[in-house]
Amino acid sequence: MSTISVAPSDRVFVLTGAGISAESGLPTFRAEDGLWAGYRVEDVCTPEAWLRDPAGVWTFYSARRASGQKAQPNPAHFALAELEARLPGRYFLCTQNVDDLHERAGSIHLHHMHGELARSRCELACGAPPVEDHAIYASLDEVGRCACGGRLRPHIVFFGEMPLEMPRIEREIEKSTLMVVIGTSGNVYPAANFVHWARQAGARTVYIGPEPPLNAGAFTQIVEGKAGEVLPGLFEVQQ
Ligand SMILES: NC(=O)c1ccc[n+]([C@@H]2O[C@H](COP(=O)([O-])OP(=O)(O)OC[C@H]3O[C@@H](n4cnc5c(N)ncnc54)[C@H](O)[C@@H]3O)[C@@H](O)[C@H]2O)c1
Ligand SMILES: [Zn+2]
Repeated sequence: MSTISVAPSDRVFVLTGAGISAESGLPTFRAEDGLWAGYRVEDVCTPEAWLRDPAGVWTFYSARRASGQKAQPNPAHFALAELEARLPGRYFLCTQNVDDLHERAGSIHLHHMHGELARSRCELACGAPPVEDHAIYASLDEVGRCACGGRLRPHIVFFGEMPLEMPRIEREIEKSTLMVVIGTSGNVYPAANFVHWARQAGARTVYIGPEPPLNAGAFTQIVEGKAGEVLPGLFEVQQ
């Protein structure tokens, strides 16, 4: 089995996508039929969907919360938490996933670029910070309001919205010497560009997943396999 060597001078940037949670039982987004858990993305995760049908959006995300709460971290999540512990100060995890399986496996320094299922925020972007919210709403009447009067919406980056804290992500990529990308199809931008930015900054780039992603050509190494089977024991951290 191939290994990935991490030198004492390396700084590691990890990007994860839906594939890392697949073995925890959470479905990935791009099913063959183009549907996601039976929904069309445009109907449930766009700003237009929120304006047209906030109840439908909350029905969808309440169901995602319910399945997220039932899911457990798998060996891939644990392997990344262990890698972080061995690379103090030179490891950064950026996830496109909105589940909290990385945190529950023990990851500490991570950034949810597409938001978090377990939070909600004011729909009016009044400046109030997101709040922790695990509720599974049965109707829109149960959904709270911000002090400004705006309704709470999921703290999720809808299609057409900007990912969270892009400047911070860019700084971390700029500093990194090894980028590891796991379980993402390379469909959604700007995340699909991170590998190109890392290459421009001179980093080695590795992809891990059962099939090559759309942007496979930008990787210096591809490790084919399921994340939960491949990640444990993959990294050789040099002292
Ligand atoms: N706002 C929303 O609600 C919404 C809806 C759809 C997509 N998105 C966003 O689009 C982003 C991009 O999608 P994505 O690339 O994460 O998911 P994706 O479904 O496009 O791709 C999943 C990838 O995981 C791989 N994979 C499957 N099983 C695996 C395993 N066991 N181990 C490793 N890899 C495995 C597949 O080969 C595939 O390449 C999402 O993270 C999400 O933020 C958001
Ligand atoms: Zn508000």
